[in-house]
Order: sequence, then C-alpha cells, then structure tokens
Amino acid sequence: MKKILALILVGLMLFSLAACQKEEPKIDYNAILNNPDLTYSAEELAKMTEEGTLTVADVNAPQLYKYYEGLMKIGVAFGANQINDLETAEAKGILKNYNVYVLGNEMKPDYMNPAPDTWNFTAADRLVEVASLTGAELRGHTLGWHSQVPQWWFKADPNDTRSVQECYEQGALASSEQLIERLEKHITTVVTRYKDTVQYWDVFNEVLNADSIRRISDDSWWADIVGDVDGNGYYDDYVEIAFRAARAADEDGTFIINDFNMEWQASKTQAMYDMVERMLRKGVRIDGVGFQSHISVDCNVEYYRTQIEKIASLAEVYDECFPEYKGNFRVQITELDMNMFVGSIADKGYYTWKPEDFQRQAEKYTELMNMFADFAEEGVLDMVVFWGTDDGNSWLNSTPKIRRNAAMLVDRGEETNYLLKPAYWAVAKVGLERTANLIK
Ligand code: XIL
Repeated sequence: MKKILALILVGLMLFSLAACQKEEPKIDYNAILNNPDLTYSAEELAKMTEEGTLTVADVNAPQLYKYYEGLMKIGVAFGANQINDLETAEAKGILKNYNVYVLGNEMKPDYMNPAPDTWNFTAADRLVEVASLTGAELRGHTLGWHSQVPQWWFKADPNDTRSVQECYEQGALASSEQLIERLEKHITTVVTRYKDTVQYWDVFNEVLNADSIRRISDDSWWADIVGDVDGNGYYDDYVEIAFRAARAADEDGTFIINDFNMEWQASKTQAMYDMVERMLRKGVRIDGVGFQSHISVDCNVEYYRTQIEKIASLAEVYDECFPEYKGNFRVQITELDMNMFVGSIADKGYYTWKPEDFQRQAEKYTELMNMFADFAEEGVLDMVVFWGTDDGNSWLNSTPKIRRNAAMLVDRGEETNYLLKPAYWAVAKVGLERTANLIK
C-alpha cells in the first residue's frame, strides 16, 4: 500500500513539475521598475522635483500613473519600435509611468489592412504581449479615419492603380455598398481579434470639419461615397455604421469618437454634440468623445473647460437612451501634447529651450491637469493620454513643419538618458494633490 501511495506521490510531483515548466515565467516589470521604498509623499515629490536629476527609467523615480490612481488613467502613445527591446530607457519609461498604452501608427487602417485580404497584426500583437507584463489597458487607435487609410477601400476595383482622385474624376470610385462592406469587414476583423485585450477604441477619427461632417472638399471620401443612407439629410451614416459594427463585434467594448480642435472651436464642439446626440437617440451606443488635445503653451484652459462641459452634458442623453449602461459615457483626453512654438518664436525651426520656457510649460500642464481632474472627480473623464514618450518622440517635431519642439514631459534624451522635465513633476504633483482625499 505504502509503495502505491509513494508511486502516486512521485507521479503527481513529476506531473506538476512538467506543468510548471510549460508556463513561461511572467516577468514582474512593475516590481523591477518600481522602488518599494518610495513613499509618494508630498515631501519626497518636492525633493525629487527640486533636485531635477531623475530620468524616466530610473528605479528611484516614481511611477507617474500611481499619483492618479483612483481618479483617472494616465496613458501614452508610442511607436511599435519603442517596445521591441524592453531594456531600453524608452521602453522602461513606458512600462513604468503609464497604465494605458496606444500605438501611434500601427493600428491605423492603412497599416493593418494595406491590401485586400492582407492583415498586419504583428505590432498590435506585440503591444498586447507587452501590456500583459504590466497589466496596462489598451486603446486601439483608430478603426476609421480619412487619413492613413488604405486607398483601395475607395476604389471600385481594389487593384486599380489610379489614385482615388483619378477614380473619382473617371467614375471608378467604390460604390456605397462596397465601401460599407470593407469598413464593416475591417472593424469586425480587428475588434474581434482584440476583443479580450483592447478595452477602448477610437471608432472614427476626425470626422468633422469646423462645423459639420467632412466632405470631399475636406479631404475625406467617406461621406460622399457612403452617402445619406437613411435619408435624414446628414452624411454621417458611415460613422453610425462603424459604431454598429464595432458594437456587434464586442458588446462590452468602450467605443469613442475622437476629434481635434474642440478645445477652442465652439462650432466644432457643437457639431460633435449634435451628431452624437442624434446617434444616441437612434440607438447607437457611443460611449464617449475623445478630445485629442494637441494644444499650445498659450492654451486657454478655462475656455477649453467650457467645451468639455458641453460634451460631458451628453451623459444625460446617454443615460436616458441606455439606462442599463447609465454612467458609462465619458470624455477622454486622447492625444495630449503641448506645442511650445508660439508668439515671436512660432516660425523658428530650432530654438534652445530655456529653464523659464520649461517652467511656463509646467505651469500650463498644472492648469490643464487640474481642469481634467475636476471632470474626473465628477466621474465623466476617465483618462489622459500623452501623445509621445518624450520631446524627441513627438510628431510635433515634424508637423506642421520641421522644428525642434519640446512638447512632452520627458526631454529628448540626448546625453541625459531621458530626464524628467519640470512638466513631469508638475503633472505628478497635481495627481498627488487631487487624489489626497481618495481612499486608496
Ligand atoms: C500622427 C503620428 O503621431 C505621426 O507619427 C504620423 O506621421 C501622423 O499621425 N491626430 C491623430 C493621430 O489622431 O493619429 C496623429 O498621429 C496626430 C494627429
């Protein structure tokens, strides 16, 4: 009997050993990157700010998102190339400081579906893998857009070598049915694939001009090809179709409509309000509006607040239309960065930023983050995503023209190993102050 028991025991041990070996050891990057002795106290933060010597991946530096825990998420956009090697300072900076990740380009439609039946999932799959190491959430950017979109979608013959413009002039554009089918297929394929791993999606990006839906004259083929399908006089049917397709693929997804300039352009904010309200009342569950927030250091934060207020009031319509999802409508800050070229230096290509410039930037970030925190406290804003990891990795160095901008929270890393800027410490301080009363 003893012998049999011993044999069973050995068997069990061998079995569990084999099972253990099969499982990949999960690296706890949080533990590696985070110094457990950091207290996140106001004194400690003041000391680190004053010294100004910590770099983005330094184990003695805090984790930015932790200052905001319980209030809102803090995210970042980056290139897939920045997460190839997780031992670089850039990658560690991402893993350490943010709890929402976004790929800046590699989940856009032209990247993911460049040709009929050709799909590029490598970058997004890697993103999912990296997020699983830290537990960060993911935003998918973006399912639909008029830019960075495969041109074949808009052609009657997807293999037509003429430009879309030529197809338009020569009567060879896709039909409404063809374009709808391609859009639906794209959304269904992508959302289904990342159903369990991507929590938030920009379903459509930049569909508005200053006060209405973009048309051909605004560089978008969408409205004119898809057309006014329901005959209600509005050419935004493709937006509605996209949201319906996304919802059909993932009932629990958080689906956002994203746009720029609403920070200062009331006519655009109004157009967004009207369109989303109309769609909500038609039964299209849009879970929120994204303010891209490509702002400048002279941004009028109080005016910006009034624009968020306007959009936030859509929550009432949402709750009324979808009582079972009450409280789920939100505003997200999706692409925050701060152009520094304003006033007399606006036209300069190269400028050596001075400590007072960085101070001014830190003050503006403080004002902004406090305004966002007000909405987060009300429960209507749930995340702020920075559009770039550092001053060098920012599209504002090349758009609208080549110039050496300094938009982000971390310097460009030249000889500094990515120093945390005054703006970083300012953002951390707002988080510390604004979560002080939360039960952690
Ligand atoms: C930008 C990327 O950051 C650049 O690398 C790319 O060359 C162009 O697109 N609004 C958006 C983002 O919604 O997708 C844009 O990203 C920035 C403006």
